[in-house]
Amino acid sequence: MQGDVVRRGRLTGERAGDMMHFLSSMKADRCIADADILVDIAHVMMLNKQKILGDEHARGLLSALLQIYDEGVPEAAFDDRYEDIHAGIESTLIAAVGEEVGGRLHIGRSRNDEVVTCMRLRLREDILKQLTALVRLREVLLTLAEEHHGTVMPGFTHFQHAQPTTLAHWMLAYEQAFARDFDRLWEAYDRVNRSPLGAAAFASTTYPINRELTAGMLGFSGLVENTMDAVASRDFALEVLADLTIMMATASRLCDDLILWSSGFIGFVTLDDAFCSTSSIMPQKKNPDTAEIMRAKAASLLGSFTAACATTKGLPMSYNRDLQELTPSLWRGVWDAKHSSRLLVDMLATARFHPDRMEAEAGKGNSTATDLADMLVRDYGLPFRTAHTIVGRAVQNGTLDLPTLDEAAKEVTGTDLSSRGLTAEKVRDALDVRQSVALRKARGGPAELSVKVACQERKEHLQKDQDSLDERMAAVSGALSRLIRDARGLVQ
Ligand code: ARG
Repeated sequence: MQGDVVRRGRLTGERAGDMMHFLSSMKADRCIADADILVDIAHVMMLNKQKILGDEHARGLLSALLQIYDEGVPEAAFDDRYEDIHAGIESTLIAAVGEEVGGRLHIGRSRNDEVVTCMRLRLREDILKQLTALVRLREVLLTLAEEHHGTVMPGFTHFQHAQPTTLAHWMLAYEQAFARDFDRLWEAYDRVNRSPLGAAAFASTTYPINRELTAGMLGFSGLVENTMDAVASRDFALEVLADLTIMMATASRLCDDLILWSSGFIGFVTLDDAFCSTSSIMPQKKNPDTAEIMRAKAASLLGSFTAACATTKGLPMSYNRDLQELTPSLWRGVWDAKHSSRLLVDMLATARFHPDRMEAEAGKGNSTATDLADMLVRDYGLPFRTAHTIVGRAVQNGTLDLPTLDEAAKEVTGTDLSSRGLTAEKVRDALDVRQSVALRKARGGPAELSVKVACQERKEHLQKDQDSLDERMAAVSGALSRLIRDARGLVQ
């Protein structure tokens, strides 16, 4: 390890290894090491442009930084006896090129603005990856919805058979929910993608820096204007964690459905072996472990959000070292969410759904009783509450056939329904499962046409999201390649 250039002036005395490990953010800083080099390059270019740093020094720094950019941050910089990666990189840089050049890297900035700039850069990349995963997830749900518009299944409330619906309708429900997760992250991105650089410790600097310049070079869409806010706030991270927590809550529900559906009791789906495990004692077992882990990851996400939020809530302005402890929660949450959604795509795409089993269950538990009540309202002018009472009483008394209905109607209204023209055939028709679905033509309902319209609209919506995402990704990669190109230009 090279001497820690940050500590050496003010502080004396060796610190025990344990203490250094305890205080260091190095483990989590692996996530921001590459971002740190980009931030360093942009900072040096700006210092040079503003004539704060002469050409020769700028060239010396940039060629060392570009070498790290090309070859990767050297392992020596990750020694966790450094407080963090910023100290690690600066110390190894100074050891490599000497203090006369390397010692000028940190002009006009602090690790406080540096670290949060790195976090925002890295997080923005993670959001783009997460948005891409959400696009894939929505795509697979829409493909399955198109395949299964005719697959009738029971819909549940309170996990009891409730009314018939289709598997397509279920797929579309989740697609819509994940589209809102997409929207939330999309909006959060705008607040993440702003540059705190130039805030220095919190009070900016006396050098004539140009904050807009570094922001533009790094592909940020603007500044975190107030320099105290820039180093102190982590609400951008909390917001993303909250959005991911909400997304994972939905993913967890979907997993819960798959876990239940793959059970022998229900048998609506067979998950691919790749997503399952077996038992060390019960040789027959096939367990939906991936979905179970994912269900638990939703809880971990909430834990990450809670830990991060609690870390900030009691801190006085502005930077406090506590903030360092928030960052591992952020990366952990981001990682869990990204991998969960990617796995979910494959788990759904490879699952085998069983339409026969679904159809066999669709009419159970008098699931079309509402249709019967609706028919009595439509064809016999009964108030809905009266029809609901008659059908409910018939269910209580036995089955939904003409004699039982007549009996129930007499109990409730004093007259039967046969005398008003109700026939056994009309009752049977009203109770038909496919008919029940076909009649649910309201916008967003499960009837075939409604589902087809929805699939079409959702696909168009998804395409728009995909296009905007492509644009956003191109803007970022364009800015960063210009930065590197310009830096190389300066060195030559
Ligand atoms: N490693 C720190 C963090 O993650 C940044 C360094 C700021 N340190 C300091 N003593 N001001 O927040």
